[in-house]
Amino acid sequence: MTDDTTQQSARHTGPDLTLFLAFHRGLRRDFGRLAEALDRCPPGDTARRALIDEHTGMQLRALHHHHSDEDANIWPLLRTLAPEAADVLDRLEADHQEMDEVIERLTGPRRQAPVQAADLRRLHDLLNTHLDLEESRVVPLIRAHISAEWWEQAGKSVSKSHGRDLPMIAAWTVDAASEEQRAHIFATAPLAMRVLYRLAWRRVYERRVAQVFG
Ligand SMILES: [Fe+2]
Ligand SMILES: [Fe+2]
Repeated sequence: MTDDTTQQSARHTGPDLTLFLAFHRGLRRDFGRLAEALDRCPPGDTARRALIDEHTGMQLRALHHHHSDEDANIWPLLRTLAPEAADVLDRLEADHQEMDEVIERLTGPRRQAPVQAADLRRLHDLLNTHLDLEESRVVPLIRAHISAEWWEQAGKSVSKSHGRDLPMIAAWTVDAASEEQRAHIFATAPLAMRVLYRLAWRRVYERRVAQVFG
């Protein structure tokens, strides 16, 4: 069997988790960065604060969306296919609820920057601990039990349901991806999305990031 054939068959034996894991990389990275951006924001600079809040809102919607998809679709399927996963899935769902409480405070009425930054750091810590568990215990079960076809269909509906956030979330995922993940995303993404990314989405995202993170 040639290397190509080996890669092809490996690709067809399990779900393609590239986007899921690149998304995790972005989540792991950016809430801490947003806290730092708030620390640097001069108290009277309402325009900059508004941009940071807007970007934070987009990231929090992406996070909430990811958790809802896991709780409503992926975990229930995994509970059926791998009943031994029940305990760890219960723990992950409880983590999602704990993070929801922080997300609620972060998306409520505007607060002083240091208070908001403290909650962003709390979320960063909770999320990184959560993703350590999810990636070490549950990702192997997803690879072993969930079919490539189911995962692909589910991924398509998730992308559609991002609605107006899709351009920013798609460009953010590409930005957060490792070099290897990025090459795979460009090799497999639908042509229309690749064209939109190159013509518009990337530029809009990069302008936003420059404004928010300086
Ligand atoms: Fe996840
Ligand atoms: Fe999760």
